Amino acid sequence: MKDIRAKLNSVKKVSIGCFPTPVHRITNFEKELNYKKIYIKRDDLTGVGPGGNKIRCLEYIFQEALDKKADTILVSGPVQSNLCTIAACACRKMNFDCISIFNGDKPEDIKGNMLLDELISSDAHYIGKVTEEDRSKYVDELNMKLKNEGKNPYIIKNGASTGYGAMGYVNAIIELQQQCWDLNIGIKEIFAPGANGGVAAGLIYGNALLGSPFKINIISVEYENKILNENIMEIIKEIEAITDIPFNYNLKNVCNLVDDYRGMGWGLNTDESKEMVFDFPKKEGVFIENIYTSKVLVGMFDLIKKSKVNGSVCFIHTGGFGSLFGQF
Ligand SMILES: Cc1ncc(COP(=O)(O)O)c(C=O)c1O
Repeated sequence: MKDIRAKLNSVKKVSIGCFPTPVHRITNFEKELNYKKIYIKRDDLTGVGPGGNKIRCLEYIFQEALDKKADTILVSGPVQSNLCTIAACACRKMNFDCISIFNGDKPEDIKGNMLLDELISSDAHYIGKVTEEDRSKYVDELNMKLKNEGKNPYIIKNGASTGYGAMGYVNAIIELQQQCWDLNIGIKEIFAPGANGGVAAGLIYGNALLGSPFKINIISVEYENKILNENIMEIIKEIEAITDIPFNYNLKNVCNLVDDYRGMGWGLNTDESKEMVFDFPKKEGVFIENIYTSKVLVGMFDLIKKSKVNGSVCFIHTGGFGSLFGQF
């Protein structure tokens, strides 16, 4: 185990966020569900920009960018992308130039993450309603153009759900295990969202390497299990190449992928998730959002109600605070 920890620690990262993130109980839901104990790990409070999971990912990604002597970060996503805003904020801190590329039109009503982008004067390119493939083509062309101008750009790929990005959540699970020891709390199960699968891949890989102290439940917010499984395995392969520690497991044996709560997919509410966005802050004073966190909570509470969860449980709050203000 010492060897594994040493190898993981040898993967360098820059320091951007505030860690460890807090862990605390949500006692009003414990009472309502008559369940002990339900924890929340506050990865919405990672300390830069509107916070959220991407800060952990960027600590590793920006290290790679520094190693490659990059001076400009190219980040892309849909309008209201959490990643684009968080990357732009983190670039300010790290003194990288940053260009954000959005596949969408610039709306007249500037709100949510877009407002935050304006406040930090990010260099935003709105390229109209094009596909993700066309957005990638635009990014590649911009990359070439900048290189010809003597710049050294670095492209953040796949919404930061890459091997380096997922290292952030390998690190997060080690952090959570340490918190369990320090705070003397015996968390048995974890719930987190799965979209491209970066958060999931990091948690699953890290947990397996630690000897599976937690049961990992990934609530899909986008794809059916088969695709999510493939995405996670792709990213785990990238992590293996970085750490040089093989992952010799069948995913089915080391995590529980759940695609029952994703509704019609990414960004499309279910009745229950829509309700949760109001219910959760009303009872706990903590805001969640529509796309990722609400569906995880719906799934976690439902499985608790159906007695499919054992022992103390922890919801990983991955943030998305900026986009919440763009969702109404
Ligand atoms: C707030 C929030 N939570 C969770 C995720 C899911 O991450 P992944 O794509 O790694 O599954 C994202 C991804 O953009 C996100 O913005």
